[in-house]
Amino acid sequence: MKVLITGSNGLLGQKLIDYYKIQSEHQLIATAKGNNRYGNADGFIYQSLDITKREEVLDVIGKYLPDVVINTAAMTNVDACESEKELCDSLNIEAVGYLVAACNANNAHLVHLSTDFIFEGTHGPIDELEKPNPISYYGLSKLKAEEFIQAESKSWAIARTVLVYGIVSDMSRSNIVLWAKGALESGKPINVVSDQFRTPTLAEDLAIGCALIAAQKASGIYNISGRDFMSVFDLVYRVANFWKLDKNLLNISTSEGIKQPARRPPITGFRLDKAVKDLGYNPRSFEEGLALLDQQLKAQI
Ligand SMILES: NC(=O)c1ccc[n+]([C@@H]2O[C@H](COP(=O)([O-])OP(=O)(O)OC[C@H]3O[C@@H](n4cnc5c(N)ncnc54)[C@H](OP(=O)(O)O)[C@@H]3O)[C@@H](O)[C@H]2O)c1
Repeated sequence: MKVLITGSNGLLGQKLIDYYKIQSEHQLIATAKGNNRYGNADGFIYQSLDITKREEVLDVIGKYLPDVVINTAAMTNVDACESEKELCDSLNIEAVGYLVAACNANNAHLVHLSTDFIFEGTHGPIDELEKPNPISYYGLSKLKAEEFIQAESKSWAIARTVLVYGIVSDMSRSNIVLWAKGALESGKPINVVSDQFRTPTLAEDLAIGCALIAAQKASGIYNISGRDFMSVFDLVYRVANFWKLDKNLLNISTSEGIKQPARRPPITGFRLDKAVKDLGYNPRSFEEGLALLDQQLKAQI
């Protein structure tokens, strides 16, 4: 099977390269805006692709004729989406339209990444049938893309995920686990919200979930996240516990107390029954995820 991924320099993108490049039955075409930051291009083809350029999208997908396209590229900075709405629209909505057109024209199955931020966040964990109601511009943009795909794509799946953590080379942005670990190691007190609840997702598990969808060309919406439901404060507490860091540096805060440009849904987190049953998805526990991350950090030294 030929798989093309977009956004291959990102956290999920690089984990997908890790997954596919050692599987001889798959041919991987990794694409990203600009140069390849994965490190080397052994075991896959690298092709630069800016998904906001319609002609580029049509040319690249028409050239490689993949069976499956996994779209990980997005404007993922939730606060930046609130202040740069045009950029957010062009990447999170319009570019998805180009991918749908290119996949439709070349009979490729589109696997698109979406988010728990399409929900208002009144309760959780939630399943795939929950009614969306975004409270941020990022969430709205991701919901519009989902709706477009469902209306226009000939062959599609949407993989929704939650609070992804992990490490890859040359990252353009951090994530909650690395941020908390780094701050606590440097002895910095941090304010952490106790009124937001999530099912945090190990990036490797998300990559496996996407690959399971791709392998079956499964269609429809799938929740792909971690299985452990916890508050963000609990998450950071467990990070401190795992690496034996000073928990006295943790200050309990509320979403009201932390001023952020974009609102976050208070309670999300996913039920995974559908992905477990249909795909055989079986994510690690949160502590198993931290243990894998710990091994990778030690291997970097
Ligand atoms: N991370 C989370 O907590 C989370 C939660 C829910 C859903 N998701 C969704 O999961 C997907 C993957 O997220 P992630 O964590 O891997 O995000 P990420 O690390 O921010 O990766 C996104 C990638 O998209 C690339 N990109 C930006 N503009 C592009 C363009 N015009 N053309 C091609 N690539 C472009 C970025 O490139 P640069 O690296 O050069 O900036 C980045 O590498 C996204 O769709 C996101 O919305 C993520």
